[in-house]
Amino acid sequence: MGSLDPAAFNSEREMAPRLYWEARARRFSGERAGLAAVCSYGMPLFYNGYIHVTQWLALAPWLRVSPGTSVLDVGCGVGRWSRRLARAGARVTGVDLAPTMVAEARRRAARDGVAARCRFLVADLAKLDLGTRFDRIIGVTVLQHILDSERFERAIDRLEAHLAPGGRIVLLEAAPSRHVARCNSRVFVAREAWVYEAAFARAGLQCVAMRGVDPTPFKVGFLPWYAHLPRFVALSGLALVTALSLPVDALWGRRLTGRSWHKLFVLARVGDVTARLA
Ligand SMILES: C[S@@+](CC[C@H](N)C(=O)[O-])C[C@H]1O[C@@H](n2cnc3c(N)ncnc32)[C@H](O)[C@@H]1O
Repeated sequence: MGSLDPAAFNSEREMAPRLYWEARARRFSGERAGLAAVCSYGMPLFYNGYIHVTQWLALAPWLRVSPGTSVLDVGCGVGRWSRRLARAGARVTGVDLAPTMVAEARRRAARDGVAARCRFLVADLAKLDLGTRFDRIIGVTVLQHILDSERFERAIDRLEAHLAPGGRIVLLEAAPSRHVARCNSRVFVAREAWVYEAAFARAGLQCVAMRGVDPTPFKVGFLPWYAHLPRFVALSGLALVTALSLPVDALWGRRLTGRSWHKLFVLARVGDVTARLA
């Protein structure tokens, strides 16, 4: 399951992402909190710390669980959210494409004293079949890295297939409200929010809540310039816009959904919602 042998993959479109994430994990996952492996590649530590805080602010209500809640963390990386959920008493299964991410998640869970409530597996979300269902499924910045539309739709089907009756899926993804392609790359695609909503509906999932994450007007204006400025100016500018952005996100981030580049989607199976309304 953890193999990087090309024979284990059906196609280049399956192989390329795993090689990319594995390389990134080998380079950065052991460093400090592992944020360079799972947040913004090539950005300074303080900026990744900021990303971590904005994601945590959006996810916080969904990181509270009753003891024994079963949670699936898809694309778990170094287990940032899995370990928090396990500390809160959840029984967590984390899956990730990259064997080194999984090894690092296991190591960190043991270090944090939560290994007994965590299991981590190497698996492709688009083909996931764990033979069990979960009360809560969480996925943080994972679908945005599945470029191929067919695999993207299959991944959402696999999420639905692993959801227990009455459970919730919580996804945090780059999902701007209007088309913005300038940040798309060979490993990232910013699908518009309506594309996500249409894919959820097709899979029998209903979006019961959508929240904003990091609306940051200053940051959005500055980031395209960052790579082109002299290093000192770029870092000073980034520090300034980050410091200005944090209070905006903390105070209004969740409510400024339409202005947010990232969104938090909370999903339920359509049948569960209609049964509750009936
Ligand atoms: C941006 S990182 C986020 C990691 C983690 N969710 C977090 O917030 O710390 C994206 C993660 O998704 C994993 N990933 C990407 N495509 C995947 C797929 N098809 N199946 C499983 N994991 C995948 C990558 O290996 C990587 O660890």
